[in-house]
Amino acid sequence: MNSNASFSPPVALVTGATAGLGLAIGRALLREGYQLILVARDPQRLNDVVQTLSAEGAVVPVSLPCDVSDPEQVGRLCQQVDERYGRLDVLVNVVGTSDRGMVVDLGPERVAQLITANVVTALLCSQACLPLLERSGGCVVNIGSLASKVGARFLGGYPLAKHALAGLTQQMRLEWRPRGVHVGLISPGPIRRADAGRRYEQQVQQGSGLPAQAAQPGGGTRVKGLPPERVAQAVVRMIRRRSADVILPWHLRPLVAIGHCWPALGDWLLLRFTSSAPSRTPPPPPAES
Ligand SMILES: NC(=O)c1ccc[n+]([C@@H]2O[C@H](COP(=O)([O-])OP(=O)(O)OC[C@H]3O[C@@H](n4cnc5c(N)ncnc54)[C@H](OP(=O)(O)O)[C@@H]3O)[C@@H](O)[C@H]2O)c1
Repeated sequence: MNSNASFSPPVALVTGATAGLGLAIGRALLREGYQLILVARDPQRLNDVVQTLSAEGAVVPVSLPCDVSDPEQVGRLCQQVDERYGRLDVLVNVVGTSDRGMVVDLGPERVAQLITANVVTALLCSQACLPLLERSGGCVVNIGSLASKVGARFLGGYPLAKHALAGLTQQMRLEWRPRGVHVGLISPGPIRRADAGRRYEQQVQQGSGLPAQAAQPGGGTRVKGLPPERVAQAVVRMIRRRSADVILPWHLRPLVAIGHCWPALGDWLLLRFTSSAPSRTPPPPPAES
């Protein structure tokens, strides 16, 4: 271990740090004085983000390209962090991806892809970073979604994967508490972004039988988009307070609680919050021979 570790600023590693929420979280942690490690797969995009953040006058972050779904690459990543800093105080698992579709069409291959992207990535990084986090009494923050807390129509395998992440997060918190490592989950609703409403157009159009609203953030959920900076601030607060579970926006907490205590009422409320039921497009007529 680096002998200067206790005198140097704390170190935070953010996965999925080159776009959307991950970038906002990186920025917020830099402002908090962390030595920041940005992780994503595309080295060019990582370089661009390092340039952008450096030009903003912040301390220059370090970027380490890594596919966090690959155990070997994740192992090497942690080794690099240990060699370079000798410590890690915060790991934020941001990598994840949403989906559009209906359960009736959800195949095992897609389920596996979504579990890998939303759950296995967080599991691998947390396991590999645990020895470093134990040394610092550090903290893991996993980025879930409202889909970690409630089901919602038209989101394909996303609620399945994000519920699994919520379960994993609680289990890690319980098991790692005696080891001095805190693990928390942030479950945000739809987050504002420039390409909102366009990202899932293809999945919704291709004869999916989904209503057009399904392409919208949250699959057409009537919840106002959150500024990414607000979610990033919630991450900073979670690290400071070592809080366990945060739902954003706050006013949706009762919806989750009601759904747990009175599921039928929860379903009724959810149906009111989401778009109208789709009329499935009829299958194409058989080709004439
Ligand atoms: N967007 C929303 O409205 C919303 C709402 C609630 C929760 N969330 C959650 O917030 C998180 C971020 O979502 P986002 O929409 O902001 O993400 P995004 O814009 O799609 O960005 C994904 C980031 O992850 C990186 N990445 C993807 N796969 C990776 C892998 N295997 N290894 C390393 N890096 C990888 C990407 O860079 P490379 O492609 O270069 O690797 C990129 O930096 C997700 O967990 C999502 O479920 C999003």
